[in-house]
Amino acid sequence: MTSTMIPVLAVDGPGGSGKGTVCRAVTDAMGWHLLDSGAIYRALAVAARNRGVDADQPDRLADVARSLNVVFEPVPDGDVRVLVDGDDVTLDLRSETTGDLASRVAAVPAARDALLQRQRDFRKRPGLVADGRDMGTVVFPDATVKVFLTASAEERARRRHKQLKDQGVDVTLASLLDEIAVRDQRDRNREVAPLVPAADAEELDTTGVPVEDVVQRVLKLLRNKLS
Ligand code: DC
Repeated sequence: MTSTMIPVLAVDGPGGSGKGTVCRAVTDAMGWHLLDSGAIYRALAVAARNRGVDADQPDRLADVARSLNVVFEPVPDGDVRVLVDGDDVTLDLRSETTGDLASRVAAVPAARDALLQRQRDFRKRPGLVADGRDMGTVVFPDATVKVFLTASAEERARRRHKQLKDQGVDVTLASLLDEIAVRDQRDRNREVAPLVPAADAEELDTTGVPVEDVVQRVLKLLRNKLS
């Protein structure tokens, strides 16, 4: 079987649209592999910061991307530990500061090019759930099913607020709403691989929709296509 025959579910959308939760649930239900491409860009942001490289140094950033040493290590409770250059950066990776830096390094074309094949290598049998911004448009244009999740900025900020509160992080809803607006603007308007739905993507607005319902919709789309 060539890699392009291995099924892929591409799930794109802005931060807080529910992609992470939906992708994990679908991955478990299908027994497939998961690519969290945002975590790769976040790992790049951490590695670049550690080496004193910034988003306005494209050549150096591409070097960091090419030599990125990131390991995703499953831990018993179903979570994943992330190591960059051997250091556990799991907590640092999820912070808003790292998210913001990730969005800036992700706007650099040479860095995206350097990470393309690394993402495609996640395509393994029996199938792959790919979570990101450009999964259906750039990384897996031949994906079996493409889904684009959205939700209002207010709802996305509320979800993120709850997530951070549960992790003991103290931030205001208003500051999260501002950050979401800035990040959306940058991700949607960058020159390469901007956040846009693929022409053949199914758009699902998750505002006010229980996550379990979204998971069932996505599973149905996928099973219909595979049968
Ligand atoms: O999904 P996330 O919040 O972990 O992603 C962090 C940043 O990485 C996001 O603001 C944009 C960037 N990103 C990207 O450009 N392309 C992807 N496929 C995934 C993430």
